[in-house]
Amino acid sequence: MPKITYIDYEGNSKTIKVDNGLSVMEGAVQNDIPGIDADCGGSMACATCHIYVEENWLNKLPKAEVAEIDMIDMAYEPKKNSRLSCQIIVSEELDGLEVKTPEKQS
Ligand code: FES
Repeated sequence: MPKITYIDYEGNSKTIKVDNGLSVMEGAVQNDIPGIDADCGGSMACATCHIYVEENWLNKLPKAEVAEIDMIDMAYEPKKNSRLSCQIIVSEELDGLEVKTPEKQS
């Protein structure tokens, strides 16, 4: 089962095992990771699942769709490594993925 590391804005990290097929957001919500609220439940309508993906992982993820990019624009402090965690589906290839949560969500 892939391990995903969630790092908060202060640098505190928590590594958890997430089932294949779940989203990075669902892994966070099921494990009470702070900073990922996911108000819309994963329908790409809220941006409260916004994360920053560690640079070395960016190219290993599927490209963001236009709708995701548009939603990221409405997130708190978007950066070039911003993604919506509800749009990243966990698989063995993502074992070791590290993501950071913003200081606050929009
Ligand atoms: S959970 Fe709302 S956009 Fe991801």
